[in-house]
Amino acid sequence: MIDFEQKGFLNIHTLLTKDDTNLSNNDNKHLYSQMMLGNTPSPMFSYLLNLNKQNLNDFKSIMFYNESNLASLINESKEAEEVLDNHTIYLPEKQKKIKTAFSKVLEQRHCTRQFVYERMNLKEFSTILNFAFGIGNRKLTYDNYVATTRYHSSGGGLYPIDIYLYIKNVSDVSEGMYRYQPYSHTLYPLDIENINSSSFFVGESIDTDNMNFCVFFEYSLNKNFVKYGELSLLNTLVELGGISHNFDLVCQSLHFTSCPIAGFNKSTIEKLLYLDGINDHIVFTNICGKE
Ligand SMILES: Cc1cc2nc3c(=O)[nH]c(=O)nc-3n(C[C@H](O)[C@H](O)[C@H](O)COP(=O)(O)O)c2cc1C
Repeated sequence: MIDFEQKGFLNIHTLLTKDDTNLSNNDNKHLYSQMMLGNTPSPMFSYLLNLNKQNLNDFKSIMFYNESNLASLINESKEAEEVLDNHTIYLPEKQKKIKTAFSKVLEQRHCTRQFVYERMNLKEFSTILNFAFGIGNRKLTYDNYVATTRYHSSGGGLYPIDIYLYIKNVSDVSEGMYRYQPYSHTLYPLDIENINSSSFFVGESIDTDNMNFCVFFEYSLNKNFVKYGELSLLNTLVELGGISHNFDLVCQSLHFTSCPIAGFNKSTIEKLLYLDGINDHIVFTNICGKE
């Protein structure tokens, strides 16, 4: 149990109640007190208390990965995971030149949830995907291995996030669900029928009818747990923030707007994508359209 009064946790926003019997009140202010008193468990709070905890076996695995250059070896063969057949859609290799000044992009970035119905052309779409999720030109050499890099950083260079897209209104691409394949800069159609895009997000505020597309960020636990153990989730969520923010900035630079969305229907989307929800999770979403 935490002695929060002695830890100086009290401030004007904190309502404390010490009524130990009041465990099922749906008010987060009451719940907060019970959580602090140790009366009610919270997975999030336990995680926070143990944040950055590393076990001896984590250190062993981290050292093993670092000394053996395993990430570069995995990186070299990752390309082989991509499906290239007559269904694969190759996106334009040549990207649209981004002319907006970086400071202007930062100043103008904002979230949009309602859009006008306007088609995004394939070159704009390809440019957004390339700079947000794609492979950069910079290479890293470790001993005999040459590792590719991306436009965002990644814990241990393991890139545990994969990108799924629901495309609504992009030229030359039919509406539907796709997997983005960064090495070949391609889309692979998932051929999933009867998708109701209004079921993706919680509530009515997100305009899936007029969006150009939305993004589902998928985390596969095995991609970094074997190196980082208990540190994996923290690394992944921080990395995801970087990816999602790059996405926001590239959209803005091309005069589209976006909105990172935590209020998504996790199991609905995972079921659609045939993800098991055990090793493979949808951990975040984003949406892009014309304001
Ligand atoms: C981690 C995260 C989760 C978010 N989740 C939602 C969401 O579920 N629904 C929503 O409408 N906006 C969501 N947003 C957008 C925020 O509401 C928005 O960024 C905030 O109001 C600030 O506005 P601005 O981005 O236009 O500056 C989220 C933003 C972040 C960074």
